[in-house]
Amino acid sequence: KTVGFAASGGLDSCTVTKWLTEHGVTVVCFCADMAQPDEANFAEVEARMRASGAADFVAIPLHEMIAAAGVEVIQFQARYEGAYWNTTGIGRHVIVAGMIPELKKRGIKILGHGATGRGNDQVRFQLCTNMLAPDISIYAPWRDETFLKRFGGRKEMIEYCQERKLPVKATLNAPYSTDANLLGLTHEAGKLEHLDVSPWFVTPGMGVLPTAAPDAPETVTVRFEKGSPVALNGKPVTPFEAITQANAIGGKHAVGIVSHLVENRFVGIKSRGVYEAPGMELLGTAYAYLLQLILDRRGRELFDQLSLFVSKQIYQGYGFDVATHMARSALGPVNALATGTIRLKLYKSSIHFDAATDVPHQLYSESNASMEAIGEFNHADSEGFLRVLQVSARALAANGQVTA
Ligand code: ARG
Ligand code: SIN
Repeated sequence: KTVGFAASGGLDSCTVTKWLTEHGVTVVCFCADMAQPDEANFAEVEARMRASGAADFVAIPLHEMIAAAGVEVIQFQARYEGAYWNTTGIGRHVIVAGMIPELKKRGIKILGHGATGRGNDQVRFQLCTNMLAPDISIYAPWRDETFLKRFGGRKEMIEYCQERKLPVKATLNAPYSTDANLLGLTHEAGKLEHLDVSPWFVTPGMGVLPTAAPDAPETVTVRFEKGSPVALNGKPVTPFEAITQANAIGGKHAVGIVSHLVENRFVGIKSRGVYEAPGMELLGTAYAYLLQLILDRRGRELFDQLSLFVSKQIYQGYGFDVATHMARSALGPVNALATGTIRLKLYKSSIHFDAATDVPHQLYSESNASMEAIGEFNHADSEGFLRVLQVSARALAANGQVTA
């Protein structure tokens, strides 16, 4: 039997790989390279996984794929429950999409992962794999009674690895667990589970806390063309460069680090986390301003529904289904209009709109919006408009339908 294991190189990966190997399973470790800020050294990860018994180690380069996915998350303004950017949710889709061809190349029929039995990640791994490769099955040690009987928690895993002299780097009292990719970090579990503890003991991995941000504000300009970021501060960028550079600039000003208290997981339980996505927050906020200049009220309303819908789809692992595909084509006309340059001011975790230029499809008209009597909008015309509205408003009053 061979399992293709989605490995991060952490304590779980080493324990699972060793344990499966000792049970006669061939384990091939696949490590998605999504430019995660916390695990830059793939040579070290490979050494750890091989020392843990991996028959082979495959690093899958996914920089472009995660960046493209990040741009789509921005285009959909996909934040979970209106709060944090769906960086882990989309990341799982990218890992599975990257892994499937590698598994097929090697004839591997089982995808293994280290997500627990009470989270969202197990659902995303499952559904993405089922949809992209229905003939591949899933193995999740955290839902395997035999594995669970052997390993109650981190303590047993650390002891197990130490006994076998595996080069794990783990501490018994890890204060929380972090999932990482180019788009952001998500911190959950450990001390974060205690609601009576402030979440700000978390050490930011992509920037600083607001209290450590510079005293001087910084302006940034982002140029979008047809929905994609194409220049930052006037210099041309690829999507990957845009997100990488925006992470650095945003992180410096403590932009996009939030505590979500508490979210509703797909499995129905509530959990608390701290989220970092400085580049997504910077680019995503600039994009939100651009959209607001372009979309009229009805376009905005439909967009907001698509946004809410796709956020849930990504969160629940349905990013490859027909409904997401439908939403994506509905967004096409919006992306086609989304060209323009937005200038932002970053200051101690806040992002302010500064200026907009070269927005060919914007509906905002200085002369129409003006208080002065200029342009096509004749203030006196509103007299008739308001008299029409007045009829139904007074009808409500006359018929006892008004509550003060
Ligand atoms: N609650 C977030 C989500 O479902 C974060 C999950 C974090 N996963 C992790 N392995 N730390 O997207
Ligand atoms: C996990 O439980 O494996 C991580 C958190 C989640 O999937 O929601």
